Formats: sequence, structure tokens, C-alpha cells
Amino acid sequence: MANQPYTISQRILVLGAGELGLAIISALRAHPSRPDVAVLLRPDSSSTNSIPNDIDIIPGNLSDPVEALADILRPFEIVISASGFAGGPGSQLHIARAALHAGIEWYFPWQFGVDYDVIGRGSSQPLFDEQLSVRELLRAQDKVKWTIVSTGLFTSFLFEPAFGVVDLDSDSSATTGRRRATVTALGDWKNRVTVTPARDIGRLVAHIALDPVSTTNADGVDERTGVLHIASDTLTFDRLAELLEKRGWEVTRKLASVAALQAKLEAEPDDVGLRYQLVWARNRGVAWEVESSWNGRRGIPMEDLETWLASSRLR
Ligand SMILES: NC(=O)c1ccc[n+]([C@@H]2O[C@H](COP(=O)([O-])OP(=O)(O)OC[C@H]3O[C@@H](n4cnc5c(N)ncnc54)[C@H](OP(=O)(O)O)[C@@H]3O)[C@@H](O)[C@H]2O)c1
Repeated sequence: MANQPYTISQRILVLGAGELGLAIISALRAHPSRPDVAVLLRPDSSSTNSIPNDIDIIPGNLSDPVEALADILRPFEIVISASGFAGGPGSQLHIARAALHAGIEWYFPWQFGVDYDVIGRGSSQPLFDEQLSVRELLRAQDKVKWTIVSTGLFTSFLFEPAFGVVDLDSDSSATTGRRRATVTALGDWKNRVTVTPARDIGRLVAHIALDPVSTTNADGVDERTGVLHIASDTLTFDRLAELLEKRGWEVTRKLASVAALQAKLEAEPDDVGLRYQLVWARNRGVAWEVESSWNGRRGIPMEDLETWLASSRLR
């Protein structure tokens, strides 16, 4: 994506190495600026074995007290949180406070997802309110540069049974020779969802953080900072069903209306999957145009859903 010579090697710390953390680490490692990349992991982390030998593993726990965590973050110029929501309520604010306390140069919080500003407070997913509090915290200061990369849904998550949209009947092929799937539209068949695979997110995070492209807009604002929207594909639930049919799946279509999901959530208030489904069913802050996204405006090629499906990750 870049042909410029690189003179500065950045020290970058990635927090966590799950699906997204590993993709970011891989893209940073492949970057021509050859940054100095480290990853923070708990000493007993199951992710340790997946870390390439040339990446430093910094032992730590994101729930360490703010000052102790800040001491770990301080030697790094860029900190990218790929910790997921695993830490539970309070963890995103906690990490953001540590990043500000450490006074690092540039912070990428774990906000790789929907547009929390558009969804607003009081959504069906209480963790989203905390994401807005993180934004308030970051916006209220000008010491630490920050970038939020809104990605929509991770493409893989669209196929997670827990998300409740695509149910692939893995036995169908073996028993009947035909592959059957159920697609459940959230809210409406015409509702749209933006998706980005972890690999594309990793590539773009590396590009945003490391390529010395001229990105100051007419107002003098660095276009690599603030809330950015990236997108590999934006499609309706109807199109999702069509794409699966095109790949040879026999698709049964179901609709989960907002009212039906709300009623289910009232009966099962602890069902996290339902909380997520309602966010997409309400159809706000979950989809944006690829053409006007950060990557779309720069003509950066991304992996759309049809290409992602064709790479046979689903059997
Ligand atoms: N926009 C979206 O679609 C979206 C948003 C959120 C999540 N998701 C889905 O949720 C799943 C999780 O996402 P992910 O892969 O990025 O996250 P993940 O698999 O949960 O990985 C989180 C990483 O952070 C580490 N971690 C967690 N708590 C920690 C702590 N207290 N201290 C230090 N390290 C800690 C974990 O290490 P350990 O090995 O120690 O646990 C792990 O390496 C994915 O399958 C993704 O598709 C999707």
C-alpha cells in the first residue's frame, strides 16, 4: 500500500492476541517500516503459542491497577488494544485511563465494531455505553493522539452460531450430499450490515499507523485520527442469503423482527446473543457505504463477502 522510504521504526504494543490481535500483529510484522512490535499477554495466556518468535511478549494483565498498567504501556509510542470485551464491564475505560496516564503518543482503543455514536446510550448492549464513555474520555484531552477504527462486524462473526444469523447444518452434506443453511434476517431482509475480515482490519490498522502518507485534510486535521470507518463489504441480509445460495447452500430464510427479539430478551435477559441481534435489527450505526469509507475513498482493495466465501473458509 505504500512505496515511501521509512526512516522511523515505531515501538508498538498490541494488547491481546485473539482473532484480531493476531491479524494486527501479522500486518505490522509485514510492514516495510519494520516496526518494533510487542504483545501484552497474561503469563498463562493460551494465545502465547501463536505468537511469532520475533515478537516480544510482555507479561501483564489488563486489569492491573491503572498506574501499573501505565508503566507497562509507557515505553511504547503506539498502543493498539485488541483485548476484546473479555475483561467485562469497566475494562475498556480502565485501559483507556492507563493509556492516557502513560502519556503514550497514539492510542487505538478496542472499538473495532459498530458506530457507537450513532447507536447512542441505552442500547440493548450495555457494554456499548462504556464505549461511548471511552470516546468522551479521549475527546476531553489533547495529550494522547487516538484513532477509533469502526469496522462493522468481523466477517467471521457473521457466521458465528452465537450471532444467530447464519446456521450452517454441518451434517447435511454428509447425510444428503446437499449443504443446508438457515439465514435469519435481523429486523428486515433489507437491513444492511457492514463486515470487515480481521485480516483487512489488520492491514488497515498497519497502514493508518505506519504509512507516512499525507493525510491532513483542508481543516488541518490529521485524517488518521478520530473516528474512522472502514468497510470490506456492506450488504443486506437478503444478499447474504443469495451469496450462500450461489455457493451451493440450500438456504431456509427466517425473519427475526425487532418485536420478536425484544419479547425474547424480556424472557431471557441474560442472553448476550439476543442483545447483539437487537442492535442489528434496529438497523442504526451498523452499516455504512464502502465507497465513502476510509479505505473506499483511497481505493484500497478489500475482501468483500463473496470473495471471502469463495476462499472456502466455510464447508
Ligand atoms: N465487531 C465485531 O464483529 C466483534 C466485536 C467484538 C468481538 N467480536 C468477536 O469476538 C471474538 C473475540 O474477538 P478477538 O479475537 O479480537 O478477542 P479474543 O479472542 O477474546 O482475544 C482477546 C485477547 O485479549 C487477551 N486478554 C483478554 N483479557 C486480558 C487481560 N485481562 N489481560 C491480558 N490479556 C487479556 C486474551 O488473552 P487470553 O489468551 O489470556 O485470554 C486474547 O489474547 C472474535 O471471534 C470476534 O469475531 C466481534
